[in-house]
Amino acid sequence: MAGASGGALAAEVTLGGGFGFLSAGYDSPDALRKEIHLARELLHSTAGDTVPVGVGFLCWQLDAFPSQAIDLLSAALTSGVQAIWLSFGQDVGKWVAYVRDHDPRAGTKDAVKIFVQISTVTEARAALNEWRADVIVAQGNEAGGHGLGSGLPLLTLLPLVASLWPSTGGPPLLAAGGLATGAHVAALLALGASGAVLGTRFLLSPESLYSAVQRRALLAADSTQSVRTMAFDYARNTLGWPAGIDGRGLRNATVDDYERGEEISVLREKFNEGVRAEDSTRLLVWAGSGVGLMSQIKPAKETVQELHEECLSHIKRTARLLSVT
Ligand SMILES: Cc1cc2nc3c(=O)[nH]c(=O)nc-3n(C[C@H](O)[C@H](O)[C@H](O)COP(=O)(O)O)c2cc1C
Repeated sequence: MAGASGGALAAEVTLGGGFGFLSAGYDSPDALRKEIHLARELLHSTAGDTVPVGVGFLCWQLDAFPSQAIDLLSAALTSGVQAIWLSFGQDVGKWVAYVRDHDPRAGTKDAVKIFVQISTVTEARAALNEWRADVIVAQGNEAGGHGLGSGLPLLTLLPLVASLWPSTGGPPLLAAGGLATGAHVAALLALGASGAVLGTRFLLSPESLYSAVQRRALLAADSTQSVRTMAFDYARNTLGWPAGIDGRGLRNATVDDYERGEEISVLREKFNEGVRAEDSTRLLVWAGSGVGLMSQIKPAKETVQELHEECLSHIKRTARLLSVT
């Protein structure tokens, strides 16, 4: 999660039994190496061993800044992370091939695993059959952060995507978007997912890079406040996303002003002032539609363990119900 997930959050998710990702975001290669090193220390991975976390890259940014892209990808690959996550670009397949060609561990059992996040059936087909991603993540419209504005809800997208998988198997398919509880994860497993990706829920971890003000806004929010918008990309000048991509975050005065047609220069001025003053009625808080179900700040490790236990207990409950009828 760009701007939210660094080495500490990624490592704690892995320590809890999940698999954590940090974001290459808008950082320099040195800053990225530092975050991976932090994860390595927290996970007690010795030098030379791989680190059980991954790094996420936005493909449109890799396209926009190719020389920085190469340095960032090289920093991730030579730091020994076990996975690279790719999303949001005109030509994601090109970057999948780039990572495969430049992975120093290619051809060994430690070759880096490539996760590709998709939001349409067409993209899923390409990720499965052409790019041959190692793991595919289906992102529903409910997802916090960036996504396809016209994307399908996860309960529809996931089975449509799952139906592409050959009966002989295929890569793991993960479900993302609006998930907050272990019961959500159990439901997605029933629909054909091999696992789940949660983002917003981990913004509420002390290890996330979100500020106390942003976390308080998440705690106070109900799910109707989670809206898709371009307001924040205009306000902070992070434009350049592929066509159709917007972001899901908490509605506040920045979104209201944007929807009223406020001049972009004025929107930016008010937003920047809001950031300086840490004013939650102006600043950016990405949040998926599950935000109203989140009511506690909790360490990431505990959250993963709790999600796992809840999921298991819901699966057992379903099995009991089925055996009675
Ligand atoms: C703060 C934040 C930053 C995100 N950054 C990225 C990103 O850099 N790349 C990406 O593919 N997805 C990103 N996402 C989307 C996640 O990959 C995932 O689809 C989403 O968090 C799942 O929905 P949820 O937040 O409702 O759990 C981000 C999500 C959040 C909340």
